[in-house]
Amino acid sequence: MSAIKIITVVGARPQFIKAASVSRAIAANNQAGGGPGIDELIVHTGQHYDDSMSRVFFDELHIPDPAVNLGVGSGSHGRQTGAMLERLETVFEEGKPDYVLVYGDTNSTLAGALAAAKLHIPVAHVESGLRSFNRRMPEEINRVVADHLASILFCPTETAVRNLAKEGITRGVHQVGDVMYDSVLFNMALAERSSDVLDRLGLPPKSYYLATVHRAENTDDPQRLQGILTAFRQFDRPVVLPLHPRTRKTLGEGLREVGGHVRIIDPVPYLDMLRLEKSARLILTDSGGVQKEAYWFGVPCVTLRDETEWVELVEAGCNRTTGTDPEAILGAVGDFERAGAALPPDRPTHLYGDGHSSERIVAVLLRTADHGGPMARDTGGGSPRRG
Ligand code: UD1
Ligand code: UDP
Repeated sequence: MSAIKIITVVGARPQFIKAASVSRAIAANNQAGGGPGIDELIVHTGQHYDDSMSRVFFDELHIPDPAVNLGVGSGSHGRQTGAMLERLETVFEEGKPDYVLVYGDTNSTLAGALAAAKLHIPVAHVESGLRSFNRRMPEEINRVVADHLASILFCPTETAVRNLAKEGITRGVHQVGDVMYDSVLFNMALAERSSDVLDRLGLPPKSYYLATVHRAENTDDPQRLQGILTAFRQFDRPVVLPLHPRTRKTLGEGLREVGGHVRIIDPVPYLDMLRLEKSARLILTDSGGVQKEAYWFGVPCVTLRDETEWVELVEAGCNRTTGTDPEAILGAVGDFERAGAALPPDRPTHLYGDGHSSERIVAVLLRTADHGGPMARDTGGGSPRRG
């Protein structure tokens, strides 16, 4: 049997990090031999293009160079997604993959899934089944569509499996855990050894709060963004804010007026980010990935959104969703401080698997191909399998 051909579609920062783990597992499988192996081709849509949002992750995480960069760049949702669709179609037609692998919930995810499904190429979706139940978020629309088009759905959690079942999706569903945990486990020691970010910033461990803000719902609504910054300004500790280009653009001249102890820096490479997260006293974020990383490092997290997809963290007392009201943000930080800026000692420790999700994904892809390829998407019976 010849190698299985996969085209991986990535385009945004968190996708490079997730894909790095799976690519590493694919390489390990190929090296071990004994089976058909997987021939992976990476396609970068070009959604993120600044070096600090793209190149640094390929370099640092040793991700194989993309075979193609579609160079789509920024734009409105329709324009950006449309340009990706058109260009991906050509790549898929020429590449004739057995599967297209997509990650998460960005416009690159949507375009990858849609272009493939229309060409009858089975789609495998990593980080499937997450829901915020808020259709005003572009990510919610992207993930719902991707899930309904996918033939193989890799869920990080039991909640995600249940969410899919409620939408009638039970076939091809595999609960495999979270590939971002694989990544944290693989890279943390390296980050400790090689990142000098704390020295560069002159920050003793546990002396500062770490924050990220980039969600459209926060950056595109001046009242929400100001609510967040008003809270940040009132902390008597440094608030380190590696700023996403979207938020930098929105703030423009207003950047100079942020004030307080807020320290705005450029987006940092992944290993620096892990170091910053691990040594933070507390994390405030509207990022999906950063919420989970806070948990893995035992750092309390305040989520600057009205809801989260990572509901297990809230239930376990590790995360509080505050929205953007300054009083609510200050209240949650105060509560965590009073608890010693530590997570509940009785929290569950393996909410997102055991750090071997990528290997499971590779095993499922190989197994499914071995059984004649994935079934077409339908809403029929069948029960989810643990990978
Ligand atoms: C995208 C995803 C979001 C994800 C985030 C990860 C969608 C709809 N959103 O949001 O789910 O959490 O990535 O970071 O896909 N920009 C630059 N340089 C870059 C990239 C972006 O300057 O390299 C600026 C541009 O002004 C651009 C804006 O950021 O218009 C937004 O970028 P875009 O890729 O559309 O969405 P994100 O906010 O990054
Ligand atoms: N991240 C990073 N540098 C930064 C900010 C974030 O390396 O300056 C990493 C972070 O550790 C996590 C991922 O990027 O692994 C999260 O991506 P982002 O917040 O952009 O997207 P989301 O997870 O919200 O989709």
